[in-house]
Amino acid sequence: MRDLTRRSLLGFGFGSLILAACGSRSATSAPRDALIPTTHIDDEDELPPVPMACTAAVTARNIEGPFYKRGAPHRSVLADPDDPGERLRLTGVLQTTRCEPIGGATIDVWQANAAGDYDNDGFRFRGALTTDAKGRYDLRTIVPGRYLNGERYRPAHIHIKVRARGFAVLTTQLYFAGDPYNDGDPFIDDTLIMKHAVEGELRRARFDFVLPA
Ligand SMILES: [Fe+2]
Repeated sequence: MRDLTRRSLLGFGFGSLILAACGSRSATSAPRDALIPTTHIDDEDELPPVPMACTAAVTARNIEGPFYKRGAPHRSVLADPDDPGERLRLTGVLQTTRCEPIGGATIDVWQANAAGDYDNDGFRFRGALTTDAKGRYDLRTIVPGRYLNGERYRPAHIHIKVRARGFAVLTTQLYFAGDPYNDGDPFIDDTLIMKHAVEGELRRARFDFVLPA
């Protein structure tokens, strides 16, 4: 049942490639108190194991947006201790549609800070993780702030690029279940919405990326 529980946390599915831009940058952020836990993650503190079974659904692509920068430092901890924001630990595995783990791949992450701003001068809240031999990754960061896209806030999201030898680059975004701005967002794909849970002062989320074998 544990595997069923874990798989229930996954956000798999085919999605269409959306070519629109991400939206303009704004320093105006929205409150994050509407983020609510939906599923309690029963994982231990260690990295999640590779699931015993997997789905054939390839992770959906999502817009890159205008704030990607090459050259992010290799690191899995994006938040300094004095950075404002709710702490987030995001873990998961990278695998193929044949359930094969993909180790040695790069997961390039970029996101807004708690105020909804991207660091376009440096590499704050940007980092490149490397999956281990079992395809696992473990990201320590904060829940991103929202920012205005025109007259509407985009829901909190984390930008991702997955680079693995022999596979096309996957560019996507991860979203948070319970964000009131998910509904009606022009870019969101429901299969990219993460289940998450609050454990004390830490928000935990799980997402497994699947590339076509
Ligand atoms: Fe964004």
